[in-house]
Amino acid sequence: MHPSTALAHPNIAAIKYWGNRDEALRLPANGSISINLDRLFTRTTVSFQPSLPFDELIINGHEATWPALERVSLMLDLVREKTGITARAEIVSENNFPSGAGIASSASAFAALALAASKAAELDLSERELSRLARRGSGSAARSVPDGFVEWQMGSSDEDSFAYSIAGHGHWALSDCIAIISSSHKKTGSTEGHALAGSSPFQAARVEDAPRRIEICRSAILKRDFEAFASIVELDSDMMHAVMMTSQPALHYWLAASLAVMQAVREWREGGLSACYTVDAGANVHVLCPEKEAEEVAIRLRKISGVKDVLTANVGGAARIVEEE
Ligand code: PMV
Repeated sequence: MHPSTALAHPNIAAIKYWGNRDEALRLPANGSISINLDRLFTRTTVSFQPSLPFDELIINGHEATWPALERVSLMLDLVREKTGITARAEIVSENNFPSGAGIASSASAFAALALAASKAAELDLSERELSRLARRGSGSAARSVPDGFVEWQMGSSDEDSFAYSIAGHGHWALSDCIAIISSSHKKTGSTEGHALAGSSPFQAARVEDAPRRIEICRSAILKRDFEAFASIVELDSDMMHAVMMTSQPALHYWLAASLAVMQAVREWREGGLSACYTVDAGANVHVLCPEKEAEEVAIRLRKISGVKDVLTANVGGAARIVEEE
């Protein structure tokens, strides 16, 4: 068996996934829509080696142990089950973005791992099957498998909960200017956070209204209607944070500078600059805008007190196999 190397991009959700109907299978409480981010990527090589007593995981040059190793081994077990392979594997993974930058790497990591592991095991999975496999490692990883603008249909079971491209990466020239506000690791990671979502009285309302937001967002993307896109993206992010802030225990991810950026972005838009914000399970603010506005947005973001850095990415492609170097 030959080693295989795969590359996948992280994605930023325009309509968020928060809460699972089934924690083990990572079946989401609602569907979601995201955009892959080019420039940022995880590159992962998997080689099954009969001589290894355990799976061995190296992330950014350092050996990783529990809990990262356990999560990776669980996904490899799914591949081993499908193929009858019993050998353990060496997994070498690298992110080209700083791991301390507060940018979640689990989506790109599990999408790249699903692809590299299945190829190394000589398993030829369809995009849909790959997306389902990636989902088992991290829900949002299901969305890093297809190209460009991606929708993850919640589905009703393991079989029909997968993501697909609604438009390729060339469809709409958007950028994500990520205002780095905190580089520290999240206090509560998303796996734990999803489990708390149902304790907020607002989660049921957020979930019930999700099909409407998805419809508006999908149609805004297909029509390249930035105004419609901006207002639904901000509403959806605020709704997720309302759930987070009202769960028990409460999760507060925003810092003062996060709020300052959100406020500024709303003002810029009123002043005619096309930009909107969205925030994941952390303090950093993703500012989405047409590619031609990205430079201006980045300049303005850097002037806001508390913004340490700005990383800019455009719309990225699908997860793919790459040649060994
Ligand atoms: O895939 P996870 O378990 O890391 O969850 C991602 C959760 C959010 O980033 C907050 C929202 C999303 O849809 O990406």
